[in-house]
Amino acid sequence: MAQIKNIGIFTSGGDSPGMNAAIRAVVRTAIFYDLEVTGIRRGFEGLIKGDMFTMNRKSVSNIIQRGGTILKTARSEEFKTTEGRKEAYEQVKKFNIDALIAIGGDGTFKGAKVFGEEFDIPVIGLPGTIDNDLCGTDFTIGYDTAINTVVDAVDKIRDTAESHDRLFIVEVMGKDSGMIALRTGIAAGAEAILIPETNSDLNSVFDRLEKGRKDKASKIVMLAEDGEVGGAFEVGRQIKEKFPNYDTRVSILGHIQRGGKPSCMDRVLASRVGVAAVEALRNGRKGEMIGLIHNEIAYTPFEKATKHHTEVNPNFLKIVEILSI
Ligand code: F6P
Repeated sequence: MAQIKNIGIFTSGGDSPGMNAAIRAVVRTAIFYDLEVTGIRRGFEGLIKGDMFTMNRKSVSNIIQRGGTILKTARSEEFKTTEGRKEAYEQVKKFNIDALIAIGGDGTFKGAKVFGEEFDIPVIGLPGTIDNDLCGTDFTIGYDTAINTVVDAVDKIRDTAESHDRLFIVEVMGKDSGMIALRTGIAAGAEAILIPETNSDLNSVFDRLEKGRKDKASKIVMLAEDGEVGGAFEVGRQIKEKFPNYDTRVSILGHIQRGGKPSCMDRVLASRVGVAAVEALRNGRKGEMIGLIHNEIAYTPFEKATKHHTEVNPNFLKIVEILSI
């Protein structure tokens, strides 16, 4: 096993609150172990273009509390090509990088896996996405902050919904995962939740509205984006058609969910997995994502981590049904 002297670090895909805390943890841990760190800007794009710089203790000062990513991020089409990855490897050699730490979601890990195997370079991944859709970690970095942002927004929507006796369809992010909708639906007291994992259709919502208390002033239907039922406007249209008396409105929360100061939980998670990532490379590990399972550090091969987990705790949906009577 060749000794690692210089670790390259980058963030890729959609940003998430806590990525900066993870970068800080990696840089400081590497310095603690007398290793060098090369920061790579804009994920795989920076790797291809050689947009890199040496990081030191000060490069990560005063960032643990900041949202976004100081290394910037991108979704790279070029890296999906053999040519693009060859160019990236040339830069890796030029900057004397011996190993990489990639912070991102499933797209990032798919690219990291191919690159690591193609050029025999150790790569470790850290789960940075608000979607919480990766296998091998109970929570991803950014998820906790994002769900708190959503709950805060829905509480505000509830105030106005209550004043006007309105029904709101609130659409949240998650790509093809309903993890954000599910947890925030419970926390914000939603009357119904629509998520892709359960293939929930609108009949379940109609049913709930029909059977539910008629004297309830406000109602919230929490909807995960990209589900088969359609977007918030389509769901709103269909509810209005079925219940013409409801005064319905739509609110799509959008990218507000990706910003903001990371929560304490996200900072601690990012710090723990960041330290573990450097230690994993020092111990000869590669091709794995580091997460937390039952509060313990867990190593999951990239190919398993990227298998979208569709397991939804059935109790969660039952809780919504019981509590929204
Ligand atoms: O993966 C994070 C995420 O915010 C998803 O929830 C969402 O579908 C997607 O990224 C949006 O991506 P973009 O910012 O590129 O539009």
